Amino acid sequence: MARIEWKAEYETGVALIDEQHRHLVEIINRFEEALQKGKGSRQANEILNDLTGYTQEHFATEERLLAEAGYPHLKLHQSQHRQLLQKVERFQFEYNAAGRRITAELHEFLGYWLVNHILRDDRAYAPCLTGGTSGGPEGTVAEPGHEPALTLQE
Ligand SMILES: [Fe+2]
Ligand SMILES: [Fe+2]
Repeated sequence: MARIEWKAEYETGVALIDEQHRHLVEIINRFEEALQKGKGSRQANEILNDLTGYTQEHFATEERLLAEAGYPHLKLHQSQHRQLLQKVERFQFEYNAAGRRITAELHEFLGYWLVNHILRDDRAYAPCLTGGTSGGPEGTVAEPGHEPALTLQE
C-alpha cells in the first residue's frame, strides 16, 4: 500500500474542484493509514463512510458546475461518476460484510480514480470551466506517455 502525494499537475485550475480533489486524496490516505496501523475496523469503516459521502458531494458539485457551463460531455462524465461511486459503495459493502482485506482492491481503485478520472477526465473539462475552449472529448487531453506520473510512496 502506498500513500498518495498531491502534485501540482493534478490540478484542474478550478479552485473549488482542486480543493475537493485534495480533500478526497486526504480521506483516501487516512483510510489507508488506518488499515496499515491495524486500527480497529470501526475507524477504517468510519473513514470509508466519509469517503463515500464526500465523493457524492464532490460529484454533485462537479456536475452542477459542468451543467452551468454547458459542458458538451456532461452525460458521459456523469456515467463515469456513477461507475466510480458504485465501486466505492461496493468496497464499503464488502468491508462491512466480511471485514475482509480489501487492500489490493483499494489500491486498484485509487489507481483508477486518480490516473483515469481526476487526471484525465476531470482535466478534460477544465478549459470549459476556466474560460478556455469547450474541452475535447474525454480521454484525449493526456496522450499515453505524457500523463503526469502518479507518485506513490511505499
Ligand atoms: Fe472530480
Ligand atoms: Fe469528475
